Amino acid sequence: MAARSFQQDLVCVFGQPVAENPTQAMIERAFQHHGLDWRYLTIEVAPHQLADAVRGLRAMNFRGGNLTIPHKVNVIQHLDGLTDAARLMGAVNCMIWRDGRLIGENTDGKGFVQSLREVTNPKGKRIVLLGAGGAARAIGVETALAGAVEVTVVNRDAGRGQQLADLLANNVKVRSRYVPWTGDFDVPAGTDVVINSTSIGLYPDVNARVPLNLATLKPGMVVADVIPNPPRTRLVRDAEAAGCTVLDGLGMLVNQGVIGFRLWTGVDPDPKVMRAALEEVFAAE
Ligand SMILES: NC(=O)c1ccc[n+]([C@@H]2O[C@H](COP(=O)([O-])OP(=O)(O)OC[C@H]3O[C@@H](n4cnc5c(N)ncnc54)[C@H](OP(=O)(O)O)[C@@H]3O)[C@@H](O)[C@H]2O)c1
Repeated sequence: MAARSFQQDLVCVFGQPVAENPTQAMIERAFQHHGLDWRYLTIEVAPHQLADAVRGLRAMNFRGGNLTIPHKVNVIQHLDGLTDAARLMGAVNCMIWRDGRLIGENTDGKGFVQSLREVTNPKGKRIVLLGAGGAARAIGVETALAGAVEVTVVNRDAGRGQQLADLLANNVKVRSRYVPWTGDFDVPAGTDVVINSTSIGLYPDVNARVPLNLATLKPGMVVADVIPNPPRTRLVRDAEAAGCTVLDGLGMLVNQGVIGFRLWTGVDPDPKVMRAALEEVFAAE
């Protein structure tokens, strides 16, 4: 009998709750497509057990992993180092091995920028960023690093909004200001890209409305939503009706997965295969 290995390479996501996270479907489809005998495990980890979970990941020789709510910040103390981007954002969504050290990376913003590049080059663009949470921090930093000239942060909570505008202005050296979000926001003339990085519109609240004055959305603007489920959010539909170029949240989800996959396996996965896996998952809901 030919020698073969029954041992698979492992990666995972830690989160709580985590059962509804669809990343496994997307990554495992790509493992199959590229002939890799790997598994991606969806693992519920309570906050007080995160240290043990990371120790376990090391002991069991996992090849890497993702972090989702509520672990993206707290995991940092359990890692051996951070990439520059993850340090700037203060959040990690992806663990990778580098020279025997477990390093925290953040692929959310890079995934977003990759998706944005499919419709426009961020260089020189004026951005309106709705939200100031984890996704917004990642997107703000990476769009600025990709050459955006201005990022206007619009957020309900003033503390979080101002902190993100300051981070972008002081540490990434982009023109940035915070605007309080009270009532329907008027998108300033001259804006190139509007990004919803809040959780408004996420399943099951699919009819929730992003408070925007739709009359200020103009043809020629790009409107992007981070909400992956449903992909065609109310904002995406409204922006399309206003003649804008739209980007759905699946693009970001797929592209952050592409980057993680490449970092773990060394293989460049096919984004179309990964997107198709996600579309099947969401169509079944
Ligand atoms: N497509 C992808 O790959 C991808 C990746 C990461 C995250 N996401 C999505 O991004 C969304 C945000 O995630 P996160 O980690 O950034 O969450 P988070 O850290 O909790 O931040 C949530 C943000 O949404 C704002 N917000 C929530 N409800 C609001 C409302 N009714 N009106 C105005 N603002 C509201 C919050 O404003 P306040 O500060 O005022 O509370 C905050 O800025 C989630 O829906 C997640 O699914 C998508």
